[in-house]
Amino acid sequence: MGTKIGVIGGSGVYEIDGLQDAAWVDIDSPFGAPSDQILTGRLGGVEMAFLPRHGRGHVHSPSTVPYRANIDALKRLGVTDVISVSACGSFREEMAPGDFVIVDQFIDRTFAREKSFFGTGLVAHVSVAHPTCPRLSQACLEAARAEGIKVHDGGTYLAMEGPQFSSMAESKLYRDAWGCDVIGMTNMPEAKLAREAELCYASVAMITDYDSWHPDHGAVDISDIIATLTGNADKARALVARLPALLGPERAPCPHGCDRALEHAILTAPEK
Ligand code: ADE
Repeated sequence: MGTKIGVIGGSGVYEIDGLQDAAWVDIDSPFGAPSDQILTGRLGGVEMAFLPRHGRGHVHSPSTVPYRANIDALKRLGVTDVISVSACGSFREEMAPGDFVIVDQFIDRTFAREKSFFGTGLVAHVSVAHPTCPRLSQACLEAARAEGIKVHDGGTYLAMEGPQFSSMAESKLYRDAWGCDVIGMTNMPEAKLAREAELCYASVAMITDYDSWHPDHGAVDISDIIATLTGNADKARALVARLPALLGPERAPCPHGCDRALEHAILTAPEK
């Protein structure tokens, strides 16, 4: 099986120069419709699939993004490696707006989303002790460094439900007591579902603000976030464009076992 890179991201991330045989395709899923059509094509000899997380025109809020349908649709397309590109707030002085973070841990505080492909009839418990793929994360880190992007290697991401931003008390709790580095609204349950689907998953989070703990910065303002995102979209595109060369068209089994995550996870007895 060859590499197929799936990118779940915001507007601008998929407008990559040189994408060959580009076509928007409809993919059906028993979990409902994905956020949008998926843009498929080839870049540097590697198959690519781009899915706008919020839909073109930004129609899905973080709580209503169809996370299960999105991951299922990418799996059905033959995607092997999922790169999540998203915006986040920072809890660390040294992690400044415009910097990127290759997230490696999560605290999941979301509560109004479907979080599993399993349930009644088929029960499985996968491990998400290490929720991102180290091999894929390393490729993202190298791609960012090669582009001269200021990037932080690792960080704990607090996934909140939203859509409101955090209060100052919540922001200080996540930062001081829980040791989180960044905060966002979209990486969970996406990362958990990718693991259940046996897909490698890496999270490239772009810092847009200091959330609400910082004494020298005011409350989080969505117009500032959009301005930072728009101003940095070219960096995200350049990072993604380097991935085909770093991952290559041939795919060996994941050295960390992401592609075999269900091997010992399913409890339900097979039908006789
Ligand atoms: N996305 C970007 N900035 C954020 C913040 N401060 N909190 C939650 N999600 C965000």
